[in-house]
Amino acid sequence: MNHPDIKEVLYTEEEIKKVTQELGAVLTKEYEGKNPLVIGVLKGAIMFMTDLSRAMDCDLELDFMDVTSYGAAIESSGDVKILKDLDTSVEDRDLLIVEDIIDTGRTLSYLIDIFRYRKAKSIKIVTLLDKKERRAVDLEADYVGINVPNEFVVGYGLDYIEKYRNLPYIGVLKEEIYQ
Ligand code: XMP
Ligand code: MG
Repeated sequence: MNHPDIKEVLYTEEEIKKVTQELGAVLTKEYEGKNPLVIGVLKGAIMFMTDLSRAMDCDLELDFMDVTSYGAAIESSGDVKILKDLDTSVEDRDLLIVEDIIDTGRTLSYLIDIFRYRKAKSIKIVTLLDKKERRAVDLEADYVGINVPNEFVVGYGLDYIEKYRNLPYIGVLKEEIYQ
């Protein structure tokens, strides 16, 4: 049974699993013989990060960053505040940033600037979902799971006011939930 607030399931648990396994196989090759620092952007990326990292058959380390956008009611402003920084130094490290969804691209663009400034050796982005038509800055992910339409989605880490992160699938909410 789906959650009663969900209007439509866009991607099932099985579909997400398949995409994640495929990305994991590609990234296993990419990082063979390296020891990348895999950086999850909290909180949305947690489910994807735990599944993706288990699909990567190579040495790696995990770390997290929590950021929020000032004045971000509807979309991110790009004026980003770091709520939790990395525990690890990125200097001379191969970084893999893991995102749940890229929307305007402003958040990641800001993070990349920081990591460049901190002298990372390489920076790649993997995102489960990509809302390409919403992009406001010049930013492309290196690895994309699924291109999604311009709809607000929840589940598998993605929330609406902190709810629905635990749904194992990704879907859209019924209109009345936003009232
Ligand atoms: P940017 O900076 O790319 O922001 O605009 C990406 C962040 O925006 C959030 N976001 C969503 N969250 N459903 C969500 O639950 C969505 O459809 C959605 N679109 C964007 C998300 O936090 C992402 O990391
Ligand atoms: Mg996020």
